[in-house]
Amino acid sequence: MCGIVGYVGPAAASSRPLDVVMEGLGRLEYRGYDSAGIAIATPDGLVSAKKAGKLTNLTRELDERPLAEGTAAIGHTRWATHGAPTDVNAHPHLSGDGRLAVIHNGIIENFHALKSALVADGTQFHSETDTEVVAHLLAGAYDETGDLTEAMRQVVRRLEGAFTLLAVHADQPDTVVGARRNSPLVIGLGEGENFLGSDVSAFIAFTREAMEMGQDQVVTITGADVVVTDAAGTVVQPRRFTVDWSADAAVKGGFETFMNKEIHDQPQAVADTLLGRVGEKGELILDEMRISETVMRSVDKIVVIACGTAAYAGHVAKYAIEHWCRIPVEVELAHEFRYRDPVVSEKTLVVAISQSGETMDTIMAVRHAREQGAKVLAIVNTHGSTIARESDAVLYTHAGPEVAVASTKAFLAQITACYLLGLYLAQLRGNKFPDEIAEDLEELRLMPERIQQVVDTEGHVQAVARELAEERTVLFLGRHVGFPVALEGALKLKELAYIHAEGFAAGELKHGPIALVEPGQPVFVIAPSPRGRDALHAKVISNIQEIRARGARTLVIAEEGDDAVEPFADVVFRVPQTPTLLAPLVTVVPLQIFAAALATAKGLDVDQPRNLAKSVTVE
Ligand code: F6R
Repeated sequence: MCGIVGYVGPAAASSRPLDVVMEGLGRLEYRGYDSAGIAIATPDGLVSAKKAGKLTNLTRELDERPLAEGTAAIGHTRWATHGAPTDVNAHPHLSGDGRLAVIHNGIIENFHALKSALVADGTQFHSETDTEVVAHLLAGAYDETGDLTEAMRQVVRRLEGAFTLLAVHADQPDTVVGARRNSPLVIGLGEGENFLGSDVSAFIAFTREAMEMGQDQVVTITGADVVVTDAAGTVVQPRRFTVDWSADAAVKGGFETFMNKEIHDQPQAVADTLLGRVGEKGELILDEMRISETVMRSVDKIVVIACGTAAYAGHVAKYAIEHWCRIPVEVELAHEFRYRDPVVSEKTLVVAISQSGETMDTIMAVRHAREQGAKVLAIVNTHGSTIARESDAVLYTHAGPEVAVASTKAFLAQITACYLLGLYLAQLRGNKFPDEIAEDLEELRLMPERIQQVVDTEGHVQAVARELAEERTVLFLGRHVGFPVALEGALKLKELAYIHAEGFAAGELKHGPIALVEPGQPVFVIAPSPRGRDALHAKVISNIQEIRARGARTLVIAEEGDDAVEPFADVVFRVPQTPTLLAPLVTVVPLQIFAAALATAKGLDVDQPRNLAKSVTVE
């Protein structure tokens, strides 16, 4: 959680450090938005400002009380972990003499012990944060060494936990020093200026040239130079990369909210995730696959680890991969997997799914799986993120930056990547249904167009959402791949509209949840394709009748041409005809639109729902 930006420009003081950092904070606000702050190194010392609440509060403060111009700056947007979101607890935190400022993302786990020792030595603390400990420790180490980089290395050695830290000192107004362990930090390379950020969107408006930072490395940037060292002080050469999306991709592009924009981005996100991965003869090309074919052939179990929406993508993967590959697939919430002594071996393929690549629960599960000897394949959207770096292989989703806190396009891209993985494994292992695989691969190429058709029905879905804006409970039912879609529909509604929503397997209804159904209760039902196997469709029609008989208001998502649902549905949302296993890519879209529209009708903040943050970097 928390967004971090650092900047150093040319030697002469100007307004650019402030402008660059505020622009970066605006783009990083999705990482946390309960307070924000900035510190600028000027020729006459440090100046700083910080405010509880959204970034606009800081902007207003800076308009009313402008800061002096400078050469270097650091800025922070916070998601509180230690200490309430107040002005005092906002970052930056200053040393006792006010000559050093620090910002931090993560948690310093041994901060109590460090703080007790500092307090015993007479240090005065002003905030309740763990971060302030670092400001005092760094100031002490700087006084002894006279070198901010060396001081940072010494302090980092004393810290336990997860952190990205940036610091500026009044004595070195042309320098920002940073360090990272288990939290993200990337370097942006400009001309006569350099940048640091929690992710590349922090500086994408200024440069697309970037470098990754490894674990426990310390970076020093000036306007002219970037030097990265390991914990021992040895210079290391970080990997360079060019960001392949532009600043425009991270702005709203005419939509009222990022979430609306991202729902509209979905056909492209799926198309981009497929791009270059399917050869002319229908064969799969997965060039980021660094696990050998021999190992992939020997896999006897797949365990998907992920959290929230990403875990629901894993549930869809289970249906598809088990059917295509006949390999057992388990799906487990990463935080449960890590702490329950899971049975994995060198023949287990662990698939870690994460949009951010920085979800701490998933990172810890990845590490645990690798310690047990399993190979880990990451399905990740964020280039160079911790999960991508720490896994044996990466299959990147190409959804582009997802800014709205509630995941939409990353979810569709994750499901798409899971299909690619399943089809690849089926192909590699000589599956039982070659014709069906070829057919599904061909159908996959048609999905962006089909998703677009559903997005185009948004007016109808939004009108229904407005009618239901006063509801207090909404239920969601689905079978087979419709079940994880029901769970995702409920999650979207909970997090965006703050109303009670629950998803059930439709077959489970009669085992208890049907007691919830009373006259007028809205119930979404995801109807499977009538062309699918196993009489699933008929069973779901029966379930719709069961709840309708008890007075439920039924909102049915059904394929075009599925007339059987009409007599039992109060409202029908149509999706194009699609093979059963691929259907989640279209059936979830009306549910995303519904949740966003209902939250808008209630006047809520769709992009930044309360209590949440985009990237959950604490366990
Ligand atoms: C819900 C949502 C979350 C994330 C979860 C995992 O809309 O976005 O449930 O899916 O926090 O995040 P990542 O995918 O970044 O690991």
